[in-house]
Amino acid sequence: MGEIGGLSNFFHGVARAPLVSGVTPLERGPVLDSGAKLWVKRDDLTGLGVGGNKVRKLEFLCGAAQAENSLSLVTVGAGQSNHCRMTAAAGALLGLDVHLVLSGERPERLEGNQLLDALFGAQLHFTGEPDHHWGALEIVRESVTDALIADGKRPYSIPIGGSTAVGALGYVAGYLELSQQLMAKEVDVSAVVHTSSSGGTHAGLVAGQAVCRAIGMPAPSVIAVGVAKGVVIGSPDVTTLANEALSLLPNCPPGSVVEEADVVVDGDWLGDDYSVPTPAADDAIRWAARRGGWVLDRVYSGKGLSGVLGRDAAGEWAAGDNVVFIHTGGIPSVFVAAGVPEL
Ligand SMILES: Cc1ncc(COP(=O)(O)O)c(C=O)c1O
Repeated sequence: MGEIGGLSNFFHGVARAPLVSGVTPLERGPVLDSGAKLWVKRDDLTGLGVGGNKVRKLEFLCGAAQAENSLSLVTVGAGQSNHCRMTAAAGALLGLDVHLVLSGERPERLEGNQLLDALFGAQLHFTGEPDHHWGALEIVRESVTDALIADGKRPYSIPIGGSTAVGALGYVAGYLELSQQLMAKEVDVSAVVHTSSSGGTHAGLVAGQAVCRAIGMPAPSVIAVGVAKGVVIGSPDVTTLANEALSLLPNCPPGSVVEEADVVVDGDWLGDDYSVPTPAADDAIRWAARRGGWVLDRVYSGKGLSGVLGRDAAGEWAAGDNVVFIHTGGIPSVFVAAGVPEL
């Protein structure tokens, strides 16, 4: 699912659970200050569990879980993790128990993504750790996984953000889908910009770009706007992850290789840290809402769009250029205290 006919051949032989509800729209957005046209790939509309980018990854992660006859899913994230919420929804749909390891303490009242996690029937394991203590959170994921193994629950355990080579396949499919949409609209694009945190979306996109290059489809360059310190300083290694993802495709077109030069991370829009709001992201959230009617969040897509607007203001694009912003979702965290900027 999730791509236009023909391109699914590349995924033959790879376990995949159909979770994305269909091809996501590629919409015309407002014109940027430079006069360049903005296009928005609406991956906030992937469907399952309020949608977002992780549904694409979960198609392959859950496919692998089913292939291993797993009975449960375990994953980990920040307290308001979108990835955890979509994993909870995927587990509900596929009949798998879901355990989520989250930062922070259990609040008196669940809100935003956590409210949906519970609605989807997931078990929440609050660690008391701060959001960005990713290493400590991963250790708790491992211990929850070990306990489930001991209990005979055959868990499929997913690292933070679902950013394994298997998960990255979701954005190989996502890039191929976008490339085909651009071809159909005869739009020549200067850059595809998205928000990056654990790097798997980025790895999948550059892997998809390598496939498109190899088969002669439009292959615009990818720019990741980093919203977590790890991805900004180069961990994980996106090039390696992308090439690992390609190696999982039995029908990968010859010549599909990701080079270091394909991997561009812009760390200028992170601000003080992951999930700490920035004035530029708050401006971008108001800009998107008031000119395009889109909802962006302060942790991910608001910072991502601030990168687009900032690069445009710095003279990167001009009238006649086309730029795609992938809206990766994150909408439920708008409904928590301080989820939107001052209006
Ligand atoms: C809304 C949103 N955008 C972007 C990302 C970044 O994706 P990745 O972790 O694959 O880099 C996430 C990750 O959780 C997300 O929730």
